[in-house]
Amino acid sequence: MLPWLLVSSTLVLLAWGVSSWENPQIKQVSEGLQRLSGSFSQLAEKGRMGRDDVFIMVSREEWGAEAAGCSSKLRRPVDVLVIHHVPGLECHNQTVCVQQLRELQAHHIRNRWCDVAYNFLVGDDGRVYEGVGWNVQGSHGQGYNNISLGVAFFGTQDGRSPSPVALSAMKGLISHAVKKGYLSSKYIQPLLVKTEDCLAPAQMRGQKTACPHIVPRSAWGARESHCPKMALPAKYAIILHTAGRTCSQPAECRLLVRDLQSFFMDRRNTCDIGYNFLVGQDGGVYEGVGWNSQGACTDGYDDIALSITFMGIFTGSPPNAAALEAAQDLIQCAMVKGYLTPNYLLMGHSDVSNTLSPGQALYNIIKMWPHFKH
Ligand SMILES: *[C@@H]1O[C@H](CO)[C@@H](O)[C@H](O)[C@H]1NC(C)=O
Ligand SMILES: *[C@@H]1O[C@H](CO)[C@@H](O)[C@H](O)[C@H]1NC(C)=O
Repeated sequence: MLPWLLVSSTLVLLAWGVSSWENPQIKQVSEGLQRLSGSFSQLAEKGRMGRDDVFIMVSREEWGAEAAGCSSKLRRPVDVLVIHHVPGLECHNQTVCVQQLRELQAHHIRNRWCDVAYNFLVGDDGRVYEGVGWNVQGSHGQGYNNISLGVAFFGTQDGRSPSPVALSAMKGLISHAVKKGYLSSKYIQPLLVKTEDCLAPAQMRGQKTACPHIVPRSAWGARESHCPKMALPAKYAIILHTAGRTCSQPAECRLLVRDLQSFFMDRRNTCDIGYNFLVGQDGGVYEGVGWNSQGACTDGYDDIALSITFMGIFTGSPPNAAALEAAQDLIQCAMVKGYLTPNYLLMGHSDVSNTLSPGQALYNIIKMWPHFKH
């Protein structure tokens, strides 16, 4: 259970009225939204819903929505969930979130959309703000609007993660959507859309390269080794933490990776460092045994899973945003380059071994990532 739920016994799941939308027809979604890229993954079954669907909803009425209306209804349950970020709309309390949301709605209506583009938005204050709601099509992704729920985090810039309470609220919202039959329990999620560029400065667009820079073995002074080969493409990406020292500078990280290799080879008698890749708090990705050789940390999965480990201990607080982003970029890159199957599954180390790795704080975050399978 997430800590904030424990302390917030007063939280209630608010019921809200379903507005009717009788106004003129929806305008076609046009420019401005970043094209949804990437492939779909069929997630066989989502984790148990439990009592996780707890969150605070701020209704349209409460945030003072303009009475704009969209006429296109959404047929439930939808099969697709699209999670967006809206850069530039940071908010950490309800006052500011409400103000931002009013401006966003006005902006979207000026762009000739029928209303704010999303079904729901989640603020860093941990509240869920009703966009067009459950029963109306959003305008968040061309081609997806009539088959998906589009939800967005306020103000999550590249290089920053939503707050833990925002992640938790998003999780609650999704659980609720499934429980109430708005979202299919076997929903699929296109790759995370990192930014919506209609509000971002133009020069930010399209700079994302497919692969992060990977610090090669030669740069950290790797010892030579000959490990069994991977069965590529891998079917799983598994996230771990080293549960030890962390590093925040490249030189420090290179040294740490070298020490980890020695630890594995000399103490554990493995053929090399146990991970395919390592991620430092400097935001760097370090080649472990790399794409083609097996790691040695995920018994039974070593030949079919790419293991990506965060250097440090992430039980109490998660890795920083640069590190999280680096790992996500690496996974995306692995898929693009064919090292991971397009329908790969993402898991935590603790899903395949009896271990605390990758640490609860980190686990709570990767649960939100595309392709996650409990
Ligand atoms: C909300 O956040 C803004 C900006 O961070 C701050 O100026 C304001 O005082 C906060 N308001 C409340 C009610 O906490
Ligand atoms: C969604 O819209 C597309 C294009 O307009 C259409 O071909 C498709 O049948 C629609 N799907 C649903 C479920 O309404």
